[in-house]
Amino acid sequence: MNDLSYALIDNLPKAELHLHIEGTLEPEMMLAMAKRNKVELPYKTVEDVRAAYQFDCLQDFLDLYYLGMSVLLTEKDFYDLTWAYLERVHADRLTHVELFFDPQAHTDRGVAFETVLDGITSALEYAKRELGITSKLIMCFLRHLPEEQAFEALECACKHKDRIFGVGLDSTENGIPPSTFAGVFEAARREGFTPVAHVGEEGTAENVREALDVLKIERVDHGNHALDDPMVTKRLADQQTPLTMCPISNWRLKGIPSLSASPVKRALDAGLLVTVNSDDPSYFGGYLNDNYRAVFKHLGLTETEVIQLAKNSFAGSFLSDGEKQEQLDRIDHQVNTLRGT
Ligand code: ADE
Ligand code: ZN
Repeated sequence: MNDLSYALIDNLPKAELHLHIEGTLEPEMMLAMAKRNKVELPYKTVEDVRAAYQFDCLQDFLDLYYLGMSVLLTEKDFYDLTWAYLERVHADRLTHVELFFDPQAHTDRGVAFETVLDGITSALEYAKRELGITSKLIMCFLRHLPEEQAFEALECACKHKDRIFGVGLDSTENGIPPSTFAGVFEAARREGFTPVAHVGEEGTAENVREALDVLKIERVDHGNHALDDPMVTKRLADQQTPLTMCPISNWRLKGIPSLSASPVKRALDAGLLVTVNSDDPSYFGGYLNDNYRAVFKHLGLTETEVIQLAKNSFAGSFLSDGEKQEQLDRIDHQVNTLRGT
């Protein structure tokens, strides 16, 4: 047990760069919203919900994730969901978040795009004022739906460029190569959205390479399997392309057999700009600091590596260079305070 490292994890300013807001829906809130919105769920109690969260792969999780979010109907629902997450991670010393949302999973159910966006962004604006947390919003296209539907989401997003920073790609990875979405990513880039994608989570290093070459992504979400290919690894290291890894998520979805098999340490050793994130914390049972504690404990990280991960979270963000430097200085200041130097 290294008390200073745990104090660093608890107290260093950190950014979260891989977080699905719908994946923060806690069972208590899910059941309360189901009741107020009169939505039928196959669960009666919080214990029923938690007991269902046993996953053998990504698809097992996605099925329950889409079911759970069916309770989200009104702007207030999206506001409450987002605010609950922000309040919670404020205690983890999170100072910046770049969060994903999945509009097609809501518009498909008849919820207006603006209902979703207004609820999320009013909570983000309130968090900036009340908690000093800055944010950027990334709209994900759902990979299991056809590209035409992604174009419809993009058309909606184009009306709100002031509030949507980037586009991402999530949902089922196996059997659906990134190039399936080449057209919509090209259009999104032309419209000024910054592209990222979930690749190399269950899929291969080839998916990572294709997303870099064809979708021209600026950050790799997960990217675990990039490390299977020395050429892809070298390219990510040379270009310092950030990776947003999610250790507890990988473990809970059986992408790795145990937390000690997390690729975070190998990525650090290979000189990659790797970050640690929570993905869908309510479903996987760990928020941001739980993920830092997990890699610290199971990978035997040093204090220096813990500090590096916190710094990487800002270095890998889409903040401006000046904003990044401000956050890095705050980390150095906090390290000195904790070390008593
Ligand atoms: N949607 C929410 N979480 C996801 C994940 N880990 N992978 C792919 N799609 C997701
Ligand atoms: Zn994710």
